[in-house]
Order: sequence, then C-alpha cells, then structure tokens
Amino acid sequence: MNDPVAALRGYQPSPDLLGGRVILVTGAGQGLGRAVALACAGHGATVALLGRKPEKLEATADAIEAAGGAEPLLVPLDLAAADQGAFERFAQLLRREATRLDGIAHCASHFVPLGPLAEQSLDTWLTLLRVNLAAPFALTNACLPLLTAAPASSVVFTGETHGAAPAAYWGGFAVGKSALPALATIWSGELEKSGRTRMNVLVPGPIATPQRARSHPGEDRARLRAPEEAARAYLYLLGDASAEVAGKTLIL
Ligand SMILES: NC(=O)c1ccc[n+]([C@@H]2O[C@H](COP(=O)([O-])OP(=O)(O)OC[C@H]3O[C@@H](n4cnc5c(N)ncnc54)[C@H](OP(=O)(O)O)[C@@H]3O)[C@@H](O)[C@H]2O)c1
Repeated sequence: MNDPVAALRGYQPSPDLLGGRVILVTGAGQGLGRAVALACAGHGATVALLGRKPEKLEATADAIEAAGGAEPLLVPLDLAAADQGAFERFAQLLRREATRLDGIAHCASHFVPLGPLAEQSLDTWLTLLRVNLAAPFALTNACLPLLTAAPASSVVFTGETHGAAPAAYWGGFAVGKSALPALATIWSGELEKSGRTRMNVLVPGPIATPQRARSHPGEDRARLRAPEEAARAYLYLLGDASAEVAGKTLIL
C-alpha cells in the first residue's frame, strides 16, 4: 500500500465522488465540520448534519442548498448529554429518513482552555471524554448496521496534534484524542473480514476555525490552513481512493 499521506497530497476528488451516498458529519455547524459537510455535498453526497445548535445547522444547510447540493438532514444532538438510547434513536431516524449510511466524519469537539492537569476537575474530564471519545464510539456503534450494509463505508475520527504528541497543559482534551487511533485500529481489525467498513483517524493540523482561535489566541490566522483545504483530506478518506487504508492515523 502506498503512503496514504503522500497519496493525499496530490489528491483531486472527482465532482461525483460521493454521488448517491449518505454521509453523516458531526460538528457541522461551524469550523471544520461545516467545511467537510459542504465539501461532501459539493461532491454529490446527501449529508446528515449533527451539532448542538439547530440554527447553525440550518445555516450550513442553507449554504449547501445555495451551492446546488441535495437537501441535508438536520439532526441536533448534544453529544455531552446523549445516552445509549439517544444514539439508538438517532440511528433509527437516520435509517428512516436517509435509508442508508456510507460514511461518518466525526468533527464535533469539546475544547476547554489550556491549563495544568492539577486544575482540571472530574466533571471537566468526563465532558471532554464523552464528546471527544465516547460519543464518536457510541454514535458509530449505533450506526454500524447501516454502515456494514453499505457496499463500502468509511468512518473518519478527527484526531489532534497534541493527542499524537502529548504536551504540557493540553490536559483531558489531548488524553481523550490520543485514544482515537487505538479505537480506529481495534475496530478496523474487527471489521476486516467484512471488507466493507473502514475506520481511520485524521489529524488535520492547524486550521483557521473558532476552536483554533480559542486554543491559540493572538496567532496570525492568515498562516493557517483553510478549513476547505483540510476538507479535501476527509473526501480522500471517505471516497474509494483510500479503499485500502484502514485502521490508520494520517497526520497532515
Ligand atoms: N482547528 C484546528 O486547528 C484543529 C487542529 C487539530 C484538530 N482539530 C480537530 O478538528 C475538529 C474540528 O475542530 P474545529 O476547529 O472545527 O472546532 P470548532 O470550531 O470548535 O467546532 C466544533 C464543533 O463541535 C460541535 N460540538 C461541540 N460540543 C458539542 C456537543 N456537546 N454536541 C454536539 N456537537 C458539539 C460544535 O457545535 P455547536 O457550534 O453547535 O456547539 C461545533 O460545530 C475537532 O475534532 C478538533 O479537535 C482542529
């Protein structure tokens, strides 16, 4: 298999890359998730948009439709509060309204200002781990029957530079993100025989988003990668060009 990060550098998605497919994007109301949702819809997918705030999802849906994309499915859900039943109801709604699922781009993320571990509370940790680690697992698990029924499905978890290379003051955010490569590798191994569903982690690097403005205040945003550029990497992992890439962590 070729180096997927190298393959990604010259990757040009075809306009109908995701034609006829349904892709779920979490955190679709702003930042990277919004750009990924627009990119998927712009390459033929019908997208399901998940986020906390309905008005932000509506704004993303308006932008998709204004650009000629298919009408998205909007599914507001608070990943910090969702329990097993909520994830199962979500998957049932997806089955009813979208009938199929070919991929998930997990872009939602809970971030807290950097600080010493000694000052982070249990409640802070539990919310970080719920949104950034447990919810990507539980949401994917609830959707697994749909994903494994699709001819070729792909799940992309969004990692973090400081999850891959932990550093002081990144706390429970980095610890939660650091477990995603293990999740993708374990699950891909378990699904290998089916040959239908792949899972990978993408570490997108510095991108000009609202979260980045909080994690690196005062930084020159003009030097950052645009969310639209990073979205191309999600198209690569969601589409067939990466058919042999499974259980990997791609660091951009
Ligand atoms: N930006 C970077 O430089 C960078 C670098 C490396 C990795 N990443 C990763 O890339 C991903 C996207 O980051 P971003 O910079 O685009 O973040 P962002 O601007 O903060 O957006 C995060 C999204 O997550 C949603 N969200 C937060 N808490 C949620 C909850 N409890 N339930 C449902 N949705 C929730 C938010 O929805 P609402 O707005 O509706 O609350 C928002 O749409 C994250 O996983 C992040 O860790 C980013």
